[in-house]
Amino acid sequence: MGLLLISSGVTMVVPFGIGRVIDIIYTKDENSKMISKLTKFCILLLGVFLVGAAANFGRIYIMQTSGNKIIKRMREKVFGSIIRQDIAFFDKNKTGELINRLSTDTSIVGASITNNISDGMRSVTQAAGGIGMMVYMSPKLTMVAMCIVPPVFILSRYYGRYLQKITKNVQDSLADATQVAEERLANMRTVRAFVQEKKEKAAYENKINDVLSLSQKEALARSIFWSSTGLSGNIMIISVFYYGGLLMNEAQITVGELSSFMLYAAFAGVSIGGLTTFYSELMRGIGASKRLWQLVDTQPKIPYEGGLVPTLPLKGQVQFNGLTFSYPSRLDDPIIQDLDLTIPQGTMMAVVGGSGSGKSTLVSLLLRYYDPQSGSINVDGMNIQDLDPQWLRSHMGIVSQEPALFSCSIAENIAYGAIDPSTVTTDQIMEAARMANALQFVEKFPSGFDTMVGERGVMLSGGQKQRIAIARAIIKNPAILLFDEATSALDAESEFLVKEALDRVTVGRTVITIAHRLSTIKNADQIAVLSEGRVSEIGTYEQLMAIPQGTFRKLVEKQTIDAF
Ligand SMILES: Nc1ncnc2c1ncn2[C@@H]1O[C@H](COP(=O)(O)OP(=O)(O)O)[C@@H](O)[C@H]1O
Ligand SMILES: [Mg+2]
Repeated sequence: MGLLLISSGVTMVVPFGIGRVIDIIYTKDENSKMISKLTKFCILLLGVFLVGAAANFGRIYIMQTSGNKIIKRMREKVFGSIIRQDIAFFDKNKTGELINRLSTDTSIVGASITNNISDGMRSVTQAAGGIGMMVYMSPKLTMVAMCIVPPVFILSRYYGRYLQKITKNVQDSLADATQVAEERLANMRTVRAFVQEKKEKAAYENKINDVLSLSQKEALARSIFWSSTGLSGNIMIISVFYYGGLLMNEAQITVGELSSFMLYAAFAGVSIGGLTTFYSELMRGIGASKRLWQLVDTQPKIPYEGGLVPTLPLKGQVQFNGLTFSYPSRLDDPIIQDLDLTIPQGTMMAVVGGSGSGKSTLVSLLLRYYDPQSGSINVDGMNIQDLDPQWLRSHMGIVSQEPALFSCSIAENIAYGAIDPSTVTTDQIMEAARMANALQFVEKFPSGFDTMVGERGVMLSGGQKQRIAIARAIIKNPAILLFDEATSALDAESEFLVKEALDRVTVGRTVITIAHRLSTIKNADQIAVLSEGRVSEIGTYEQLMAIPQGTFRKLVEKQTIDAF
């Protein structure tokens, strides 16, 4: 603030100084006296300017650095808020859109509240200083000059509101475009395989065109605004010239004074222009910040932490009681209706059923990605809605059909499964890999456990990825293991290796396996058949095959269940 006053103050000296210089030159003093006066005055001015430059440096540097910090903090806050949201939130909000919020919106907001505020304050002080000096030099002329303020003020208000609205729209459409780009680029292999490059290019261009047409509207508004404010400024200058000329004619002011006054008027004009920039940038910032604050303020329906943390370790009995559920995005389509199912501690339950019968949904509900509309899920007799979700999830290991690995090393991917990955030892990683049948192939890689797996694990085969995922699921030694079609996407050989791993890691744990392969199903203690949102048949393999018109028997006969 002090720096700001100094640098603005120095700038304000310029017109005064120039006015004096002109007057010194014009005053028909003796030549030598005039020159020495001139020299002294110029040296004085130079000193003042140096101080001004230093102050300006300080002001800009401080503003820039604190601006960077503000953007950083804002990004942390927004990301922190996004990552706490429940799964339903991510069904609704796309990755690309969220990324755009994090990167672009935050930087617009950041710029508008730091640099802009600094420049805005400078404009305020300079405008005030300029007008003050104008009044000091000639109140009459000032009155003439100030006539332009009210219309510019009114125009700014309309423009500001418009800018706020359009910035929000531009950012929304930009988020849309980023979303398209992100999804297509993340699935480049699919795009290439289906030869859709041209179509995707067109789809992106389409979105970018929306951004363009909105930005063009903004450009139009901007041009109208700036040309009319510029015009008013020039009209003001003409009137001041005219009136000032009259005053000079009556010898009320000198040439130097009129020049100084004009320069102050120009300064005040520029500063008022700066103020309008400040105001419009602020409005842009407000426009861009709307969605950000919305994001930060969104409270997840399912908290990501907090709740009961039992002192005893989880044993692993699982019970679904009268469960009814439909997805938040499709409330009129009940997926699970009044379902009851009990899985005793330490046993394996195979869940089978047609595609779309809600098998994976059951797993999502147990992990508490969603809450059911009615009924409850209990583990060890405790309703999972009362428990700390982090505690609950830390006792479950999941392997799904297409496990997502992160683009880091194999060791880091396995350690990711631990509650605190930094405490995992190399021995633990090797042991988990051995249990998961992964040790053999990992050791064959030239860099072993340090091998990078690529984005989502693209640099590994399906069977390899699956075994890393198993190692990741068991490293925390969970009481409950969930396999969602963990073997259905694999070829026979990988299937065998994965199956062997599964048999090994399921010992002593409660297991829910959603399976297609008869071999897995036969091993299960019990098999539950899902149809129309409930368990239609339950029993051992032999019991279910003994039901003559049974659904399970039909599934096996139609070979919907593979006979491996
Ligand atoms: N995130 C979601 N939002 C809305 N509907 C979903 C979602 N996930 C799955 N569904 C729907 O729920 C039904 C059951 O899906 P799912 O449990 O995945 O079936 P499956 O038994 O094949 O695993 C399907 O009709 C599917 O379209
Ligand atoms: Mg499924």
